[in-house]
Amino acid sequence: MREESAPAAPIDQALLPDGVTATMVAEGGELFGGGGICFTCHLDGTGGPLAPDLTDDLWVNVDGEYGSIVELVKTGVPKPIKHPGAMLPRAGMPLTDPQVEALAAYVYALSRGLVAVGQ
Ligand code: HEC
Repeated sequence: MREESAPAAPIDQALLPDGVTATMVAEGGELFGGGGICFTCHLDGTGGPLAPDLTDDLWVNVDGEYGSIVELVKTGVPKPIKHPGAMLPRAGMPLTDPQVEALAAYVYALSRGLVAVGQ
């Protein structure tokens, strides 16, 4: 399980896009493995039969920039390219815009190796 405390290694703010903070990354990690239900398809971020790996720099639906990840989480993926079932807008959960931005911050950091898988 994830620690409640700050990430093990502090994230260098210079490596994060404008408007994204290490606090958002940590909040997004909590939501990813909890109330955002992302883990039900993406597992710990490494993906599986239902959803792609988010820990690498290969992207199926977006260009991987922060803004594109925010948009994707808002719209979902009605017609997946490589997976059998759709991702609903906001994963079908009542996520606020700040929560979506935190999730996108976490995915951004995960894909760049700025946070460890499962953190
Ligand atoms: C019902 C399963 C499911 C859930 C739940 C889900 N996703 Fe997805 N996700 C998918 C599928 C399917 C795709 C599209 C893959 C494809 O086109 O083959 C996708 C794509 C993505 C992508 C784009 C990946 C890429 O390579 O372009 C991101 C980012 C993403 N999801 C983040 C999230 C986040 C954050 C959550 C939680 C709020 C979440 N997903 C919840 C199934 C899911």
